[in-house]
Amino acid sequence: MAKQPLQAPKGMHDILPQDQPYWNMVRVASTRVLTDYGFERIDPPVLESAELFLRGVGASTDLVEKQMYAFKTRGGDSLALRPEITASVVRAYIEHGMHTLPQPIKLWYQGPVFRHEALGAGRYRQFWQVGAETLGDENAVLDAEVIQTLFAFFLELGLSDMLIHINSIGDAICRPNYRKTLIAYYRTKQERLCEDCKRRLAANPLRLLDCKEFGCRELRREAPQIVDHLCEACHAHFREVIEFLDETGLPYMLDPYLVRGLDYYTRTVFEYFLEGGDGTGVDEESRLAAESALGNVPRVTRLALGGGGRYDGLAELLGGKPTPAVGWAAGVERVIEVLREREITPRPVHMIPTPRVFLAQLGDLGKRKSLKLFEELRHAGVSTAQAFSKDSLKAQLHIANRLGATWTLILGQKEALDGMIIVREMSSGIQEMIGLDKVVEELKKKMHK
Ligand code: HAM
Repeated sequence: MAKQPLQAPKGMHDILPQDQPYWNMVRVASTRVLTDYGFERIDPPVLESAELFLRGVGASTDLVEKQMYAFKTRGGDSLALRPEITASVVRAYIEHGMHTLPQPIKLWYQGPVFRHEALGAGRYRQFWQVGAETLGDENAVLDAEVIQTLFAFFLELGLSDMLIHINSIGDAICRPNYRKTLIAYYRTKQERLCEDCKRRLAANPLRLLDCKEFGCRELRREAPQIVDHLCEACHAHFREVIEFLDETGLPYMLDPYLVRGLDYYTRTVFEYFLEGGDGTGVDEESRLAAESALGNVPRVTRLALGGGGRYDGLAELLGGKPTPAVGWAAGVERVIEVLREREITPRPVHMIPTPRVFLAQLGDLGKRKSLKLFEELRHAGVSTAQAFSKDSLKAQLHIANRLGATWTLILGQKEALDGMIIVREMSSGIQEMIGLDKVVEELKKKMHK
């Protein structure tokens, strides 16, 4: 019986050769912008101890409770495929004693993360994040700096119509009181909440504010807002962040309902949307109307392209010293989908120059010798293409033409025995015979003529 062909796991995808120009574009933009802003690259492992996320992100968050891929190794360790990268960066900061270096430490990363999410537009189970973290300083200017860095990253890609949603969710001093006020408000309206929110009310009441269900959204219109319940220090910090943002002229809106889904946040939280993308940038009334008209159809342009915030308590949760920090991550697949939708085409990245030389081979000896010659050409900086698995000269010349090679080298059985090689100028068809030991030098000369 014929075997069923296998497929990639649901929600996980191949990044095919034709997709790579977009991925390169994102890589080039992130490297340029983050390096310019003084961030250094870090690459933590894809697998971490499950406890890192249980402690760091929070055991009762959807991200950890419902979406994390956790498993026991053969040796009995509990590991998890990282559902995000911030906790790993903080773990690395502590593990490598980075607190002893001059602060702040600014790190950036790019890599896959894994979340067992319900599938839909712009929702993957393996997706890539580009992110940046500034650790070791609580100055509000750093909140503004990371927000500006993310804006610059989008701008570099040609996305200039971003809208930043920003809020402050307080800290361990003021949030507990706000939590109580919020629970008291929702208790009386419990029966009108969706099932998820009924459950969340005890464990994670702030999440009620960003529930996407229409009924819950209506209820929150009267809900107490955290900005009115911030302690003095958090209030002053938030005001400073906003003042810095005003100076930068970045497009932002205060969003009292923005709470984010990870437990580690304190004070500033923010998310990036395309302007008007999620029906925001308009007042709540029109937003709700727009939402119901759209019938909650998830479209990638309505999802957050990036998000982040301050997480001053995370290092301590992970066993480190108190370390204020702030950062963000952007979803690469979502960004690329928007680029495609807008027909923003990747600028050519000259990482693979058009080959000027094609190396064709004939017969066993020709094939054998051509491997070594190819490496000599490559090493000498002569950009060369080949098709070693092809046997017919016609097929190889066809490829050479398609690639636009200026010269084709033909190494046949007889030439290989004689220590010679044919150099064919593709435009004229003129051929000459050169000694194998001289061909690399000859080609370098020809290329510089
Ligand atoms: P997050 O908001 O969970 O934050 O994820 C960041 C970004 O990843 C989102 O804005 C979105 O663009 C993308 N994303 C999230 N889920 C998916 C998905 N299922 N499929 C495709 N893209 C997705 C964090 O992960 C925090 N660690 C960010 C941070 C850094 N906070 C402070 N520092």
